[in-house]
Amino acid sequence: MSRLDSFINRMTAQRDILNHIKNDLGLPASGDVYEVGIGNGRTYSHLRELFADRRILAFDRSNGAHRTEAPAEDDVVLGEIKDTGQAYVGRNAALVHADIGTGYPDADARTLQWLPQMAAGMLASGAYAVSGLPLDHPDLEELPRLPSVEEGRYFYYRKR
Ligand SMILES: C[S@@+](CC[C@H](N)C(=O)[O-])C[C@H]1O[C@@H](n2cnc3c(N)ncnc32)[C@H](O)[C@@H]1O
Repeated sequence: MSRLDSFINRMTAQRDILNHIKNDLGLPASGDVYEVGIGNGRTYSHLRELFADRRILAFDRSNGAHRTEAPAEDDVVLGEIKDTGQAYVGRNAALVHADIGTGYPDADARTLQWLPQMAAGMLASGAYAVSGLPLDHPDLEELPRLPSVEEGRYFYYRKR
């Protein structure tokens, strides 16, 4: 598969899973949304449309969000997420979306040493994690793959 097709699959998967959570599952009644890896802010923009009633915090090394729809300074957490995210463990977020896979197995393996634990710790019980990397953690129940999402492309979970 070309990298273009792979990129399109990833974007489609993100959108379809987030829409499914909004339209069919529903977020817990309270809790913030965490965008782990804001990048250009495209997914952040979609999260804002879907979850307009929630505070959305964005984590990244730098804020590269498009200026037309960038988060307020107070809603951006800058630095290495492995470190900055620790302060958000136990804050009962309603949704964590993490798009920080690189496609490099060695780099992704390093991320997977801390991301599942951190994502699980950030969430309230009954809240959702959506991720491009698999989040193998006993507190996270993987939810059924949507028909539009290619096997192994994107994952989503409910915290037990
Ligand atoms: C693939 S991009 C996210 C794209 C985003 N979904 C969008 O809509 O544009 C991944 C982002 O995560 C950030 N990132 C990846 N790993 C990180 C880490 N360990 N700490 C901080 N930022 C990280 C990168 O700087 C990059 O901006």
